[in-house]
Amino acid sequence: MQDVTVVDHPLVRHKLTLIRCKETSTAGFRRLVREVAMLLCYEVTRDLPLEDIEIETPIAPMRSPVLAGKKLVFASILRAGTGLLDGMLDMVPSARVAHIGLYRDPDTLQAVEYYFKAPEGLDERLTIVVDPMLATGHSAIAAIDRLKERGAGEIRFVCLLASPEGVSNLRSHHPDVPILTAAIDERLNEHAYIVPGLGDAGDRLFGTK
Ligand code: URA
Repeated sequence: MQDVTVVDHPLVRHKLTLIRCKETSTAGFRRLVREVAMLLCYEVTRDLPLEDIEIETPIAPMRSPVLAGKKLVFASILRAGTGLLDGMLDMVPSARVAHIGLYRDPDTLQAVEYYFKAPEGLDERLTIVVDPMLATGHSAIAAIDRLKERGAGEIRFVCLLASPEGVSNLRSHHPDVPILTAAIDERLNEHAYIVPGLGDAGDRLFGTK
């Protein structure tokens, strides 16, 4: 995978525009995020290894490919990661799931961990970290720090929107982690929100504001 991939497929760009619109309802926002997650999942898993197995179609026996190796892990950064996780699981229903609870300290903007639960064998699996917004990069860096402490080897990061600051921060802390996003926006504002962005992803997903 490339270090930073912007998925600029027309369907992704179209749906992202609808996601950004402030008039989009909570239900619409949630459905669109799930749909874009499926498309991002398609891209982030593009190079997964395959192995042939013997099967029989109604017509004839054949050798046909299936995913090889240990089940992959989707690591969702709570709470907004849930929105992307659902679409990822639609595409890879057998994946294992890790949850990482982090909140942003409003004064320092640093990520503080309050929950961590991950499957066994992270060292033998590909871990795909999901969080809709790569803003300052603090949450992504903290989540990946924790996953590496617990043995995760190969890690990729998927988001809907990134800021240039978040991309460069994550790249400098974890240069081995490729980033895949639907867009890189202009900048962060003084409250560390992405501009023009889409607002607060968690609030828009769960209707909490
Ligand atoms: N988190 C969000 O939900 N939105 C942003 O713009 C930045 C961080």
